[in-house]
Amino acid sequence: MSNLPYIVGNWKMNGLRAMLTEARAIDRSAARYPKAQVALAPPTTLIFRLRDACAVIGVGGQDCHSEESGAYTGDVSAAMLKDAGSDFTIVGHSERRAIHGETDSTVKAKAEAALAAGLGVIVCVGETEDERDAGKALKIVSKQLDGSLPKGEGVAERLTVAYEPVWAIGTGRVPSIEDIAAMHQSIRKTLDKIYTDAGSDIRILYGGSVKADNASEILAVSEVGGALVGGASLSAESFLAIVGAACAEIDD
Ligand code: PGA
Repeated sequence: MSNLPYIVGNWKMNGLRAMLTEARAIDRSAARYPKAQVALAPPTTLIFRLRDACAVIGVGGQDCHSEESGAYTGDVSAAMLKDAGSDFTIVGHSERRAIHGETDSTVKAKAEAALAAGLGVIVCVGETEDERDAGKALKIVSKQLDGSLPKGEGVAERLTVAYEPVWAIGTGRVPSIEDIAAMHQSIRKTLDKIYTDAGSDIRILYGGSVKADNASEILAVSEVGGALVGGASLSAESFLAIVGAACAEIDD
């Protein structure tokens, strides 16, 4: 597993073919930032085209079904994502957990399917605002990790964890640096427990309202190995500013 900061753009349900211009611009500039690993997760309809248009960045899905194929109208399997040119997929994003009722065990099955198809996997976890206010954030996230993470030999090498507090997604609000640090340390402890020695190499991304103006501070936090970026990944300019901040962080 690379130890470069991993900056992943999650386009969610945004992006028609015209967005390939942004992807190309991101890809061209990513070549100038070898100190960061950059990837985009466009909507499924654009995966093949992005793969074709981009030479440097990773391309991935935003979700996959846990089965390889079958009568699941509207769903997409991990094998299909791979076939379309994906390197990885996100699973367990809080929007999927909340809107599609995905549980920890659903997320785990999807992560296992992704790995079985030869993809890397980014497993998302994060507490709601009520859970944070009740002082339960660390406990909730640790429980989500226990229930959502695939286990076994060779898994850690292809696994990334994204901590995304639900209340920080798309809201412009971010936790304090102390809270991010405490959560990432706690996640690291859980990963060490689950994967023993291999746990220390798993990158833990922070996600939730990451922008050019807060990226440096967040990426400097110990145990923050990159960022999962939603809104700010939709334009090359704002996304590349975050990639630039990640690289400047290494140079400091
Ligand atoms: P945001 O989304 O950067 O727009 O807050 C992050 C995410 O949901 O991955």
